[in-house]
Amino acid sequence: MEIIVSKNYDELSKKAASFVIDLIKEKPDSVLGLATGGTPEGMYAELVKAYEAGKISFKDVRTYNLDEYIGLDGNHEQSYRHFMNKQLFDHVDIDKNNTYVPNGKAEDLEAECENYEKILKDLSYADIQILGIGTNGHIGFNEPAEELILPTHVEPLVEATIEANSRYFDSKDEVPKEAISMGIGSILKAKHIILLASGPSKNEIMKYFNNDKISTNIPASLIKLHPNVTIIMDEEAAK
Ligand code: GLP
Repeated sequence: MEIIVSKNYDELSKKAASFVIDLIKEKPDSVLGLATGGTPEGMYAELVKAYEAGKISFKDVRTYNLDEYIGLDGNHEQSYRHFMNKQLFDHVDIDKNNTYVPNGKAEDLEAECENYEKILKDLSYADIQILGIGTNGHIGFNEPAEELILPTHVEPLVEATIEANSRYFDSKDEVPKEAISMGIGSILKAKHIILLASGPSKNEIMKYFNNDKISTNIPASLIKLHPNVTIIMDEEAAK
């Protein structure tokens, strides 16, 4: 596991983007596993800049996202599909048919999860999987628990997550109570995992990367089992 401490958020974003840019240059039809949340926003902005400067093309890139809120359709401002369009897809030459986000409005959620897992498999999983981390240690929406589910599944959100994510909604009541999330097993199938953490709110949880333990109560700690992990955090998160 490589740990990179960047001076600030701007540097973190540039560093994270540089891994993706190098990958796309080397393999133009790369598969990217993407994350939402505030943390990767700067990285997406850097990727758009690199595209605009003619350094990379997304023409043949395929992407899939970690998760989506149940009950929100792709046009909802807080849906992760909308987030991805706004942050990246609308600004680059990617074919949106090659971008996958679970359908939070699927009538049959179990079938949606199974189908999503099949998509990941057909894509042979991500060359790079980007992850953020919740203050409670969740990745995607895999919440702390005694047992974690390996494939894509429906996950009830815990109170801490609803509270943390309510900042994006008009009120806490509007935050969906469930999500479709890739499981820990599907996340660990990526060839390279890059976890990003920024700011003092991630300080406490990032301490857990200083030891040689794993715990399902800190789902992000399971990435310690993966042979190719890079953690990029800024000084505030690393303090
Ligand atoms: C959400 C997402 C996670 C993300 C987390 C942290 O709950 N499901 O994938 O890592 O938020 O978000 P932020 O980067 O805004 O702290």
